[in-house]
Amino acid sequence: MDNNREQWSSKASFILAAAGSAVGLGNIWKFPYIAGENGGAAFLFIYLICIVLVGLPILNIEILLGRATQKNPIGAFKTLTDKPFWKYVGALGVFASFTILSFYSIVGGWSVAYTFEALKGTFSSFDNPQMAADFFNLKNSNAMWVVGWHTVFFLMIVGIILSGVRAGLEKASKFLMPVLFVILMILVVQGLMLPGADKGTSFLFSPDWSKINPQTFLLALGHAFFTLSLGMGAMMTYGSYLSEKDDVVNASYLVAFLDTIIAILAGVAIFTVVFSSGYDPAAGPGLVFHVLPPLLAQLAGGYIFALLFFLLLTIAAVTSGISILEVSVAYLVDELKYSRKKATLTMGLLVYLAAIPCALSFNLWSDVTLLNTGLTFFDAADYLASNILLPLGGFFLAIFAGYVWGVDEVVRNLLIGDSNSVYFGNSIFKSPSFNKLFSFLVRYLSPILIFLVFLYVLGWI
Ligand code: PFF
Repeated sequence: MDNNREQWSSKASFILAAAGSAVGLGNIWKFPYIAGENGGAAFLFIYLICIVLVGLPILNIEILLGRATQKNPIGAFKTLTDKPFWKYVGALGVFASFTILSFYSIVGGWSVAYTFEALKGTFSSFDNPQMAADFFNLKNSNAMWVVGWHTVFFLMIVGIILSGVRAGLEKASKFLMPVLFVILMILVVQGLMLPGADKGTSFLFSPDWSKINPQTFLLALGHAFFTLSLGMGAMMTYGSYLSEKDDVVNASYLVAFLDTIIAILAGVAIFTVVFSSGYDPAAGPGLVFHVLPPLLAQLAGGYIFALLFFLLLTIAAVTSGISILEVSVAYLVDELKYSRKKATLTMGLLVYLAAIPCALSFNLWSDVTLLNTGLTFFDAADYLASNILLPLGGFFLAIFAGYVWGVDEVVRNLLIGDSNSVYFGNSIFKSPSFNKLFSFLVRYLSPILIFLVFLYVLGWI
């Protein structure tokens, strides 16, 4: 084992960093519009089932693989099996980290840009969402604007990663995650005090079962992967900085719980504002950048609420962005023995450049579509990562744990580590009947469900 490899200073630091990875644009930008388009509470219900039955077991496995091998995804598989195939599964994770960050960084850049626009008070001059949409489109038609903010966002991530695990990733998450939570609570409280806020909460909490169909289920599963940062080795890489003293099971519960509660709170903060202003929640990806800025700005104290909202979005994007880039950086450090500085600058530059076509998708290359798909680079990167690479990675993880490493070995490893929690820790794995359930989820339910998602996104079912 590499004695120079850094570790988190405590399990709490790991939990904050892993929660920082999980809580991202997926919770604040994606979750509300997917829920809005798919029946609100009905979607939430199915999503929660997916988190518990598939997300949690895979989250345990990913973190465990990292902790057990103290390696990046490629190194982790290489350590546990001689079969070269699995190395390529790890490589798929590194490729996914490139793909995700190339569109994530564009949205991250918009978030930083909008924080500055909020600071300048730009949104108070918008009378309606159409004006905000026009503003968004005008800004994005300027390639330099998009590339410039992508650069700013990217420099923030690279700066954090350069400082290392403790002084960079850990310190950033320890500072930013509490700030994120406080901002979110302020927005939730102000949302709940608005007239008509109950329409927003009942949209999110009273289910309309007629909305549930197989597609809702598949969409919810795909999103569960994205939101928990599963399937590309981000949780594995973060887990690789954990020590054996720390219980993976307890950490997984907390990360999944924090991620879910923050998605729901973000939903409350957003839907209360949207409904109380009489707008439609099913506004698609533009919900956050087109609909919200004018609605927030028109509230009493709206200047500050708009500013807080985009700060929240920026923080969420930064703490996830660092976990995405860290996967490829850890690969270069572990496998090719690069220094952290060289690895960060090399991967940083490569991913930065890979994102440029996504930035140009809104202007110079807006007509360029990939291979008859009709998707721009930006849309294709989102589609490929969220709908194909992550579920595929999750599928292989379940197969690896269930059939190659073996559930017994997984359970033996999960039982290592002290959780200090009687109820929410690894002691549950001492129960044979729970182990049977876990084995069923890992060996059968997860791979089959993921396989179905896969067929669905490819349009085969
Ligand atoms: N979980 C992040 C979000 O919800 O925005 C996105 C993400 C981060 C996906 C890290 C995958 C990953 F490895």
